[in-house]
Amino acid sequence: MTDNKTDNKYGKFSKDGLEYIINTADTPRPWVNYLTNGRYASLCSQTGGGFSFYTDHRFNQVLRRDMRQHLTDAPARLIYIKDEETGEVWTANVHPFGKCSSFTARHGMGYTTLQSSYRSIQADVTFFVPPGHDAELWNITLTNRSLRARKLSIYTACDFQLGNVSQGESEPTFMPLFNVVDPLDGQTMLFRQNWWHTLYGWHEVNGEWPLRAFVTATTAPLAMCADRNEWLGGFGDYHNPAGLKSETIPQGKTSGKDITAVMQWRIELEPKAVWTVHQAVGVQPREGGESADAELAKLKDPATYTAAFDETRAFWKDLFASVQVNTPDTDVNTMMNGWNKYQLMVNFFFGRGPSYYHKSQYPAMRDCCQDAFGVIPLSPQRARENLLRIGHFFFADGRACGGCNRLGLTEGPSIKVDLPLWYVLAVCDYLRESDDWALLDEQIPLMDGGSSSVYDKMIAGLERMCVVRGSHGLPLMGKGDWNDAADMIGAGGKGESVWLGQFLYFVIQEVRPVMDRRADGRLAGYLQRAEEIKQIVNDACWDGEWFVRAFKDDGTPVGSHTAKEGFIWINSNTWAVIADIASPERLNRCMDSVEKHMGTPYGLMNLAPAYTQPDPTIGLISRFRSGWKENAAVFSHASSFNVVARARLGRGKDATDLWRRILPVNKDSDTYLVEPYIYSQFCAGPASSEFGRGAYHWLTGTAAWMFRSMLDYILGVRAEYTGLRVDPVVDPTWKKFTIRRRFRGSWYNIDITNPAGVERGVTKVIMDGQVLDGTLLPPPYLPEHHIKVTMG
Ligand code: GLC
Repeated sequence: MTDNKTDNKYGKFSKDGLEYIINTADTPRPWVNYLTNGRYASLCSQTGGGFSFYTDHRFNQVLRRDMRQHLTDAPARLIYIKDEETGEVWTANVHPFGKCSSFTARHGMGYTTLQSSYRSIQADVTFFVPPGHDAELWNITLTNRSLRARKLSIYTACDFQLGNVSQGESEPTFMPLFNVVDPLDGQTMLFRQNWWHTLYGWHEVNGEWPLRAFVTATTAPLAMCADRNEWLGGFGDYHNPAGLKSETIPQGKTSGKDITAVMQWRIELEPKAVWTVHQAVGVQPREGGESADAELAKLKDPATYTAAFDETRAFWKDLFASVQVNTPDTDVNTMMNGWNKYQLMVNFFFGRGPSYYHKSQYPAMRDCCQDAFGVIPLSPQRARENLLRIGHFFFADGRACGGCNRLGLTEGPSIKVDLPLWYVLAVCDYLRESDDWALLDEQIPLMDGGSSSVYDKMIAGLERMCVVRGSHGLPLMGKGDWNDAADMIGAGGKGESVWLGQFLYFVIQEVRPVMDRRADGRLAGYLQRAEEIKQIVNDACWDGEWFVRAFKDDGTPVGSHTAKEGFIWINSNTWAVIADIASPERLNRCMDSVEKHMGTPYGLMNLAPAYTQPDPTIGLISRFRSGWKENAAVFSHASSFNVVARARLGRGKDATDLWRRILPVNKDSDTYLVEPYIYSQFCAGPASSEFGRGAYHWLTGTAAWMFRSMLDYILGVRAEYTGLRVDPVVDPTWKKFTIRRRFRGSWYNIDITNPAGVERGVTKVIMDGQVLDGTLLPPPYLPEHHIKVTMG
């Protein structure tokens, strides 16, 4: 058993790995959780900071987002406590006053709890978003731990920013003029926004926000206020709200103003006595209606909160059950059985925008396809629904939209060239998992009118990619491929992408069995195109020790030893291996070069060395600060692709070692700063004075690829069209490991032993007592299968 030291001075995983327990309000950066049911989402730090939105963070904002939240964590959900005898004020959140004698927070799946104490008053708070309510629910309990009775006031306060976040941010005094406040009863307030303007893609809406937000509680407060100015006072802010100074808070509920919803309760607590209130903050259709009213009534009943919390836990438990692993490496088990999946689902639901970093980034086509790919073994049904949804964002000629928003807004074609191929990859993977070939014939509207089937969309995208080519015969790079920030290499219309050529080659191999099955005559042409690409990649793109990344508009190679900066790029080497496009000798050599030039203790840089000056022929990537973002940061997503490559070469130790280096749990939190329980997009590379500093937390394709690289390629259990392949490529010290996985409705319990300590190789497979010929487990014929695999 590997004795992994995953505890750090700020926190640790719970025993079952499903909670991350944080022992201080003052982590080096806010350590955030996402509380979500897939529609409503609340970002919630360990002290209750964050914001919330419904399905789309750009257009359906609910709790206000502060754009410096990654530094300030401006608390979204404040619970003030005032000692009515001394007048002293503190918060259950600890911030912003910093007053507490003890603090613990627990991030779990769908919930965050915190416990803090001050002046012998213990506060226990749980925030959660349950499957059955589009709201965040707050359970607040105060316990008097002192020896005398206490007179206290409790105030909950949260800022609302209704609708379009960009409008709200850019016109913070103008937009509140359209706010409507409706104090429904003594314990509920409704908020509407009379102007909702979305100018997006090909779409313009100019009307009212289709939702209404609400706040309600299980106990009627002494007083309620919705007016931010009245609550904060002239020079006050949330550190110092004027409303706390009066006995009863101001009770402004005027429309057309900034909204902070505040409720105040006054209580007397005997020693050891406990007081509880529940509050809900959420959304409903703007026009309300019977079911909206019924929902509000339910949310006044404490029993609703108890049931909803149980449902939240059951929801995630059930979803995660589909894939469970047990290996000698406890980090692998913790991540794979818990937080990796949770992060993957958050990405799958919301794309890359709603974090403490990017504001306006949308759920992008490339990202959504990779997230669907990640989710397939966990929930093929959910992946299917998303693949159908993504299918709306194509044009008849095979071009794709950059984004695939969840509001059904029309979008324009993207300038990024690689997008349709990711769709093909995800659909093929879904077919292998599910055997559900009917998906291919589902008809979905096209962005430019009419409709086409999933299959037609895949082939149109592929066709286009096969046709468009530059002078070497490789796909044109245009204004960027996977590397969005490499936006000038092909901007003149001539530059070519070597990586995209390799990716196209790979995707043609992927789609081959699908086209074969449909006897599609176009396949022969694609296979010929694939062979051409293979030839070109080997003849024109091998640089001696690795593959070049691209050719600029003027034909100069990018990622060649002839350059001083950026002389090696990762993806054209990783994907050469994944596509199996060259000799084993070259593939192994380029993997060694990647490690030699781009290897760090934290994972791999995406290029090296960093650019130090803006280079207009490379683009944005060279403009970032050296060692940050795509300019030679240690890029988790690209590193996780590379795990797959190493495993495909049979380099088990190498693959496992890289997988471990990418892990956030092993990083020193005083260097890394961001959350240790989820992957961030990158950490700063060696060119930066802040080498190892993490940033852009949570929303990254890393979650999908770390999950699949371990499951499919290291543990080696992956779906094929005719069954489940077992081909582990592991650290040779792993002597025994198990995978329990759902496949086409049945359970496969796979026990693997490795007595000889090999990296790859299977000598025996026994399924339900029968020795199998080969390593392919047949499709299910029982609800539960038991498989014993011996490596050697
Ligand atoms: C971000 C984007 C992703 C892109 C990557 C590299 O993660 O979300 O689409 O491929 O950066 O530029």
